[in-house]
Amino acid sequence: MKKITIAIDGFSSTGKSTLAKAIAKTLGYVYIDTGAMYRAITLFAMRKGYIDTKHFDGEKLVEALDEIDVHFEYNGERGFAEVYLNGENVEDLVRTLEVSQFVSQIAEVKEVRKKLVQQQQNLGKAKGVVMDGRDIGTVVFPDAELKIFMNASADVRAQRRFDELVVKDATIQYADVYKNVVERDHIDTTRKDSPLVKAEDAIEIDNSNLTREEQYDILLKLVGERV
Ligand code: C5P
Repeated sequence: MKKITIAIDGFSSTGKSTLAKAIAKTLGYVYIDTGAMYRAITLFAMRKGYIDTKHFDGEKLVEALDEIDVHFEYNGERGFAEVYLNGENVEDLVRTLEVSQFVSQIAEVKEVRKKLVQQQQNLGKAKGVVMDGRDIGTVVFPDAELKIFMNASADVRAQRRFDELVVKDATIQYADVYKNVVERDHIDTTRKDSPLVKAEDAIEIDNSNLTREEQYDILLKLVGERV
């Protein structure tokens, strides 16, 4: 069967990665979570003190970019590739609300995008890949055979993200998660370099009222029409 490239873009917390992981497993494709790459660089910047609630030293970060290695290693037990920052497994550390609060600022830096887009293009060049993010169908793989654009209401998305986070940290407040979702969407859609926008040829899925199974079935059908 022909191998294709599947690009899944969309707003934050639309369930892109859950869907992408499931479809990659079924098809035997590689799944790449590009948000995790931006998150890993954000963690690096936070640890170095380049970014906090009061300041962001983008120049220092750009100077340090050559020292940053972000890569994935497959974890057989979890069934997906985990993200590593300079040799350290940071898969869980990059999912905190704190990292979410800074990641969109980091993702605005054009040198950061250039580094990661190049790496993403290399990772996907053999096809047979499902990649999720914000600019996959528009910038990383504009020729992808299948492009999906996921959306859902901000309330539904914030509730989903809150449910995920509160299991790990009972002090998390819904209002903070909601605020973060809306702020990230704003920065992601209005930034100069590669803003989040639906590719002309992308198929939009609003999953506010769809179960995971329904979304999976829609996607599998779309794949079937292209392989
Ligand atoms: O997908 P996730 O929510 O983990 O992405 C975190 C952030 O990384 C996004 O809000 C966005 O600012 C940035 N991002 C991006 N381009 C991508 C993937 C993520 O700018 N391809």
